[in-house]
Amino acid sequence: MAQKTALITGITGQDGAVLAQILLEKNYHVHGMRPYSAVPDTARVEGLDITLHYGDVTDGGAILRLLETIKPDEIYNLAGMSHVHVSFDMPELTANVNGLGPIRILEAMRLMHAQKEIRFYQASSSEMFGRAPAPQSEQTPFEPCSPYGASKLYAYWMVRQYREAYGLHASNGILFNHESALRGEEFVTRKITKAIGQIEAGLRNRVSLGNLDAKRDWGHAHDYMHGAWAMLQQKTPDDYVLATGQSYSVRDFLAKAFAVIGVNIIWKGAGLNELGINKQTGQTIIDIDPALFRPTEIHNLIGDASKAKHLLNWTPRHSFDDLVTEMVQADRIVQNAAPMKYGT
Ligand code: GDD
Repeated sequence: MAQKTALITGITGQDGAVLAQILLEKNYHVHGMRPYSAVPDTARVEGLDITLHYGDVTDGGAILRLLETIKPDEIYNLAGMSHVHVSFDMPELTANVNGLGPIRILEAMRLMHAQKEIRFYQASSSEMFGRAPAPQSEQTPFEPCSPYGASKLYAYWMVRQYREAYGLHASNGILFNHESALRGEEFVTRKITKAIGQIEAGLRNRVSLGNLDAKRDWGHAHDYMHGAWAMLQQKTPDDYVLATGQSYSVRDFLAKAFAVIGVNIIWKGAGLNELGINKQTGQTIIDIDPALFRPTEIHNLIGDASKAKHLLNWTPRHSFDDLVTEMVQADRIVQNAAPMKYGT
């Protein structure tokens, strides 16, 4: 079979790096688009046999030139302003990058459609469900409650629009939270595992967090990026939820993660005065910072991935316990074996 060419936007992020590794294992020629950054941002893809290009989803001309040059078979649009809390501070930028960014790619594909069929994957998000009651599936009406969720929902509908109006092979992967040792440190799971490594090594005393009772359906990025690839191998484009079907609170994640290094937590106080105490030493290891609460919040996400299971034969391989253990172990400084590995 001829070697396929893929373009990944957002290649420098967790998902981009994991997907690049999966595609290389499948013998793809992998191109990555990254925005200009004044500080080094390629650590996650260091050593991979890929071609990097400067480009940005806010620059339509750059995208069109890139597509004309590399003529990819598949495009994975993983570029985005991915932090939900930050989107409240930068709603306009969020809309431009997450909402209009995919349209710039779809327009370039539309212009090239006669020359070449390119398949397109859009990183849609469970954040689009917002306040909709769990469990959420492809049939659940969306009710976003953040600028991030609203921007992703606009892009979701536009992907469907281009699919129906112009016959483009464009699919939405509605992915629930997915993590790994490559997760950015500003997201709660990695923030916790990184802090645990530092607390264990005596480099800090505690970690400050926001809402401990929010529940998320946390899966492993490797499973989810494999699912994204599977979506583009289908003859017909479609939209799929990827999720584990189980949800845990931030508090549950903390308990499991600290248990990996042998620490049990006792909770004392309530609300903003709540503290997590190390049962063995009596020291405070968790406190609450009101600045980390969001103006509006999703309380519970649980995905129903039956459609992906049925049509893509997709099923998550990693359990919640596997995920938490892998992340904590990777962030341990005391006995750190391989911090940047995503797992298998
Ligand atoms: N980031 C962060 N930092 N979150 C905290 C903290 C904290 O200190 N304390 C509590 N939380 C809570 C948040 O309020 C939220 O309810 C939950 O932890 C998860 O937050 P994040 O890890 O930031 O992820 P997210 O659910 O908002 O968004 C992620 O998942 C989406 C899919 O549902 C991101 O990866 C999005 O890009 C993605 O679309």
